[in-house]
Amino acid sequence: MSLAGVILAAGKGKRLNSDISKAGHHVGGEPMIYHVLRVAEAVGASPIVVVVGHNGDQIEELLAGKPVTIVWQDELLGTGDAVRRALPVLAREEGVGQVLVLAGDTPLLRASTVERLVVSHYERKPAATVLTCEVENPTGYGRVKRDHDGFVEAIVEEVDATEEEKAIREINAGVYVFDVDLLKEGLDHLDNRNAQREYYLPKVLEYFIRKGLRVDALRTDDPSEVAGVNSRHELAAANKMFYKRRALEIMGLGVTIIDPDTVYIENDVVVGKDSVIFPMTVLKQGTRIGSRCVIGPGVVLDRAEVADGTEISFAVIRDSYVGPEVKVGPYAHVRPGCYIKRKARVGTFVELKKTSLGEGAKVPHLSYMGDATIGNRANIGAGSITCNYDGVNKHQTIIGEEAFIGSDTMFVAPVTLGARAWTGAGSVITEDVPDESLAIARARQVTKQGWVRRNRISA
Ligand code: UD1
Ligand code: CA
Repeated sequence: MSLAGVILAAGKGKRLNSDISKAGHHVGGEPMIYHVLRVAEAVGASPIVVVVGHNGDQIEELLAGKPVTIVWQDELLGTGDAVRRALPVLAREEGVGQVLVLAGDTPLLRASTVERLVVSHYERKPAATVLTCEVENPTGYGRVKRDHDGFVEAIVEEVDATEEEKAIREINAGVYVFDVDLLKEGLDHLDNRNAQREYYLPKVLEYFIRKGLRVDALRTDDPSEVAGVNSRHELAAANKMFYKRRALEIMGLGVTIIDPDTVYIENDVVVGKDSVIFPMTVLKQGTRIGSRCVIGPGVVLDRAEVADGTEISFAVIRDSYVGPEVKVGPYAHVRPGCYIKRKARVGTFVELKKTSLGEGAKVPHLSYMGDATIGNRANIGAGSITCNYDGVNKHQTIIGEEAFIGSDTMFVAPVTLGARAWTGAGSVITEDVPDESLAIARARQVTKQGWVRRNRISA
């Protein structure tokens, strides 16, 4: 009998005060729904049904191409009603025996914890197993009431709780595994006689207990895992927790992070041993960093691949490869499609786009190189720019090996300079320059001796 997954993501997130669907808000640089979906996939749930409603088309769009079935809950009648919407999809599948229910607003839940929940459920075979946690401040959560023998008796929502019940610190994490047939039966018996006039999913557990069936509770010790995101405040807290966790994981790989509070590392980023990460650094998904690199302060890497021994400070690099022992920054912008080879140098106030920079080549100061191929050991003088765009099309600039480019050279592309070609400072290069040739393309200087005195100009 297989395990199906249901993710509840129809909620409005009233307290977020947002036009974006709750599960579409980002934690760790990704919509919360992705985190939850990853957990469902990791424990092998199939099919996975996502219940959408408020701004559901946004969630549908986010999930395009993912292995999920979307069902709609047009009216938000509560978590119990939401799960009921998913049942027809489960009925269509062969052999679904158990159902894992997750909420789209608990992005910090660990797959390993849910794995434990599922395993415990399969081993002990109760009607349902619910994940719980003892927290410092249980405000807002459903409280888990246990009987004298410690068995789960009921889950009471905050709004329906007595003062005595509110003092209970064990909360419902909103994560459950149910026997599918019993779940269906329990949902058929739900009512909405409560403060919010909603069909509460946790009330299904009470139905089981009344019937004399057992409900198991599995506790997790880590309150961060069960943190539901219902407000901007909780969203910030979830992000903080996420990045703290990632920083710990990365430090575990042998990386030094000087101040984990200001380093933001997203999922699937890899950093090699003995690299050092300085403050105010953001490493976005798809980024891979080698060993012995020095990254930061003030660096954003977005799908960047950085090889061993490279140093980057105050820079933004996207969709590009940066080879070994390269130096980038301070204050550099490497835009998508760059390929920077070993020991190259991208200096201060330099922007590169779709540019390949040869081994040991240097663009040290105040330059824009776009759609360019720059040969090994070429040196681009300060202030040089590729004029790559004619207003309609982009054109290529090719600069040969060991070319020596005078400061403030403009390359009017398309244009090609050969190996060891030179340009004079201030040149506007409109024609190709052959190997080992010097091009000077600027007006000659005219010096008018004594002109100032003759014109009686006083300082
Ligand atoms: C719910 C639980 C509470 C638990 C808490 C854990 C209920 C009644 N209460 O409360 O016991 O402690 O989660 O975080 O279940 N949703 C729908 N359709 C709806 C209503 C909600 O899809 O009609 C979705 C929401 O988008 C959200 C999830 O279900 O992803 C939980 O709903 P939410 O309103 O956040 O419930 P809580 O009040 O947090
Ligand atoms: Ca919630």
